[in-house]
Amino acid sequence: MKHVTRILDLGPEGVEAVLAQAAAWKQQDPGAIFAGKLLGMVFFNPSLRTRTSFEAVMLRAGGHAIVLDVGSGVWKLEDRPGAVMNADRAEHIKEAAPVLSRFVNMLGVRTFSQGGGDAEDEVDPVINAFRKWATVPVVSMESAREHPCQGLADVLTLRETFGTTRKLPVTLTWAPHIKPLPKAVPNSFLLSAAAAGCEVRVAHPPGFELHPAVRAEAEAYAKATGGSITYTHDQEEALAGSRAVYAKSWGPSAESAFTPADVATLLASYSGWMPTRRHMAQAAKDAAFLHCLPVRRNVEVSDEVLDHPSSRVVDEAGNRYHVQRALLNWMRFA
Ligand code: CP
Repeated sequence: MKHVTRILDLGPEGVEAVLAQAAAWKQQDPGAIFAGKLLGMVFFNPSLRTRTSFEAVMLRAGGHAIVLDVGSGVWKLEDRPGAVMNADRAEHIKEAAPVLSRFVNMLGVRTFSQGGGDAEDEVDPVINAFRKWATVPVVSMESAREHPCQGLADVLTLRETFGTTRKLPVTLTWAPHIKPLPKAVPNSFLLSAAAAGCEVRVAHPPGFELHPAVRAEAEAYAKATGGSITYTHDQEEALAGSRAVYAKSWGPSAESAFTPADVATLLASYSGWMPTRRHMAQAAKDAAFLHCLPVRRNVEVSDEVLDHPSSRVVDEAGNRYHVQRALLNWMRFA
């Protein structure tokens, strides 16, 4: 039984296998490969793309998806070992995960960071409780540490645009937002791009460092695939000559140590990091623009960048379907 809640569960070889299968099946539909199979989808947080793309994968491949919205028609779930459950969480994952496993062939879980900071995100308590207690494979639909399906779709989009990702110069740039966001998406882009051999430049203001464990893991992938990773606080330096620009906002690295007012001031002070055409002009000519979506227009990214022909954001979201179909299939046989 194989869970995939981190890029580590795939490694560079698994990433290659899933991307190759996704690309092949995008050209030639494999038909009803999930006939009679059920995917249970447990959402602790909202979604547009993830929910629809996983449901579409299952339905079009002859299977079915059962969607459970935690706290809305489904009991609120407790994850903490030894919790005294005298508040609003009526059921523990220790029972919920094995019970759901009796009914479905695979479980998808979406559970964002609970706001406890980088150390808690690294532990990723909710999705790891599902990994521990489910008796069927668990796939991440985004958790506190990572969003692997997004990372796979990002790299598939780069491959379709450029033909190869080997030593492809790509910039992951921090972008402004009205509130601190989790780091799952930048983590997964960094890990996936490194596993695919990209030359990744990460640009962010001081104090927004990604977790050392994620950086070390990405470094190991880059070493194995001939890629590279550099970090800078100079956005212009990172953009210079980049073939693709990936924008994403994330919260400060010591978020839990700040008051909300501190964070708001910090975020406001970096509004100049919002990608505009002026920023894109610093990258290679006609550099591709990527973002995981949803995006706050003219806060995180300007209209002119999102509406420019070089923006790949809709194709990138569409690729979620293709990588997830290939990933669920890979998990069946891994
Ligand atoms: N990118 C992404 O996961 O989108 P949703 O939050 O809408 O699923």
